[in-house]
Amino acid sequence: MNYSTKTWISDLPSYEPGRPIEELARELGLPGIDDIVKLASNENALGPSPRAVEAMRHAASDMHLYPDGSCHYLAEAIAHKHGVDVSQVVLGNGSNEIIELLGHIFLDRDNGLVMSEGAFLIYKLVAMAFQSESAAVPMRSYTHDLDGMLDAIQDDTRLVFIANPNNPTGTMVDGAEIDRFMDQVPGHPLIVFDEAYIELLPVNRRPDTLRYIHDGRNVCILRTFSKAHGLAGLRVGYGLMSGDLANLMHRVRQPFNVNAMAQTAALAALEDESHVENTRRMTEEGLEQMVRAFEDRGLEYVPSVANFILVRVGNGRECYNKFAEQWVIVRPMDAYGFPDHIRVTIGTHDDNEKFIGALDRIMSERDKL
Ligand SMILES: Cc1ncc(COP(=O)(O)O)c(C=O)c1O
Repeated sequence: MNYSTKTWISDLPSYEPGRPIEELARELGLPGIDDIVKLASNENALGPSPRAVEAMRHAASDMHLYPDGSCHYLAEAIAHKHGVDVSQVVLGNGSNEIIELLGHIFLDRDNGLVMSEGAFLIYKLVAMAFQSESAAVPMRSYTHDLDGMLDAIQDDTRLVFIANPNNPTGTMVDGAEIDRFMDQVPGHPLIVFDEAYIELLPVNRRPDTLRYIHDGRNVCILRTFSKAHGLAGLRVGYGLMSGDLANLMHRVRQPFNVNAMAQTAALAALEDESHVENTRRMTEEGLEQMVRAFEDRGLEYVPSVANFILVRVGNGRECYNKFAEQWVIVRPMDAYGFPDHIRVTIGTHDDNEKFIGALDRIMSERDKL
């Protein structure tokens, strides 16, 4: 069909998500999905918060009703947890939606955003969807170069994205570096701290970005229930920001952007500290397990603080296909500018062992060539 579309939309590259388990099972002709290990989308290998599962069971019979469009109880609980006013909380269909809402509010063909070259790809895609420019600043040792990002800010910069920890590199900038950046940054762009993985860090290592919101700085913090809380399938995330910015977000979001099951589950998961703690411990142990495996095999990797790790394997896409043949789904990284790497999500101890076993088979096959 020959649609008369906005040309820049037809030119947009599509985002390539982690491959679904079901799709690989179909392709390999497997009867079920149980034998496949998916370490491709930084999901929580422990599963959802058990409290969230229980709450969802009770809520199932109310699903004929529209959700609370204001997410009242969930927003209140989040506000209470972070010590902000409820008017400063915006819920989204994943934090991904909040990123898109920022695009709706700020971006057009006359302005742009600043990000790192190896940062979460969605920022760039959202800029493109709004015909806006994205200045991608080269990283230093796979980490945000905050000085370089400061230099890249122009009069027409509307947004600066700092994913911390960053996906896909797993690196972070610490509180002192952020403070130095915030001391120098001009007031006109909104600084977005995307903290999707922050709960995976011990509390004393999490930079205190919230205080910039309390101080009335031009800052927005993004969080999600997809990672530490294990609710990626439900799509629920949130932003903390000024009441004025939140007000604009409510104008552009869909009336029922967060479904009722997601609200119920997220409310229960928010209080489930022990699930988050168990996830944090599993991640820490899993990272050690992966690092040991890479070091034993002489593979170069990027030290990570999140629930995934970048490892240099040669041709990443070819390697991704080889892992799929071994029933392990990992993520190729060419779209992020790391064609020699794959990104591996940290799984349970057994998942990680299956990955390492497949790695050995792939490496020994290569040696035979
Ligand atoms: C850095 C970062 N931000 C945001 C997201 C989006 O998460 P969600 O939309 O599931 O909340 C992801 C997902 O992988 C991410 O890695």
